[in-house]
Amino acid sequence: MAPPPALAHAAPLLRCPACAAPLRAEGSRLACAAGHHVDVARQGHVTLTTGRPRAAPGDTAAMVAARAAFLARGHYAPIRRAVAAAVAAAASPPGAVLDVGAGTGDVLAAVLDALPGRDGIALDLSPYAARRAARSHPRAAAVVCDAWGALPVADGVAGVAISCFAPRPGEELTRTLVPDGVLVVVRPAPGHLRELVDALGLLAVGAGKAADVARRLGPALPLEGEAPLRASLTLGHDAVAELVAMGPSAHHLEPAALAAGIAALPDPATVTVDVVVAVHRRR
Ligand SMILES: C[S@@+](CC[C@H](N)C(=O)[O-])C[C@H]1O[C@@H](n2cnc3c(N)ncnc32)[C@H](O)[C@@H]1O
Ligand SMILES: [Zn+2]
Repeated sequence: MAPPPALAHAAPLLRCPACAAPLRAEGSRLACAAGHHVDVARQGHVTLTTGRPRAAPGDTAAMVAARAAFLARGHYAPIRRAVAAAVAAAASPPGAVLDVGAGTGDVLAAVLDALPGRDGIALDLSPYAARRAARSHPRAAAVVCDAWGALPVADGVAGVAISCFAPRPGEELTRTLVPDGVLVVVRPAPGHLRELVDALGLLAVGAGKAADVARRLGPALPLEGEAPLRASLTLGHDAVAELVAMGPSAHHLEPAALAAGIAALPDPATVTVDVVVAVHRRR
């Protein structure tokens, strides 16, 4: 299909996976001046992967469906609002908004609403996520790629980058952000979902996480400030099941044991949200 307007508009900010030249919309494809081209998917996203082996699989169809259902209940709206507020407060230079591991695109959409006129680029390894992200906002272009490889994004085109519970490739974020560009990272703190970690055996947040984040981002993206965000959610069993199914524990838990664990929880259950919203700025 012809690229949606957001993808056609953002194409010159994207790089050809074969030769790194800028892309442009051409019929139902994106193409570079050297004649390489990729088809735009029926669902409106484009896949710009290189032949490099993938670091980890992106979210499955079931995980993305669970995330969409959980987010539609509104329980993570405070996170979305906090990211949009952090971006608005950080006074970013002009440039696109890049969301790495964008998932359904809900966070990107909130940020685009707060920043009129900017192009949004949702990057995700999961085509199921990219399909949703392509519909998340009229200015959101959706691209399937591996964030641990070279990002298919041109140098210095992003005024803002976001990574919400997602990969944080420091060198590539540095390359794609303009000087003074703002990176907002949301990462779980040790208390995040602790009732479910305890009762259901979800994967817990490692104690070394904060140091790990700083190390991975590197000296060109120093921390400008960070704030904790804590909330107490009241979740019915359906919402708990979605919350578990959308996260990394989905691969680790045995379905029957998980169902029994959820059935044994109070209904509704109280679940703690405990995350950190960090703002970094490109030197
Ligand atoms: C926990 S979800 C967060 C989604 C979204 N940022 C949000 O907060 O709703 C992590 C996302 O990162 C994506 N992801 C995981 N590994 C990736 C990689 N190597 N490159 C690009 N995306 C990746 C997953 O497919 C998934 O959509
Ligand atoms: Zn090319």
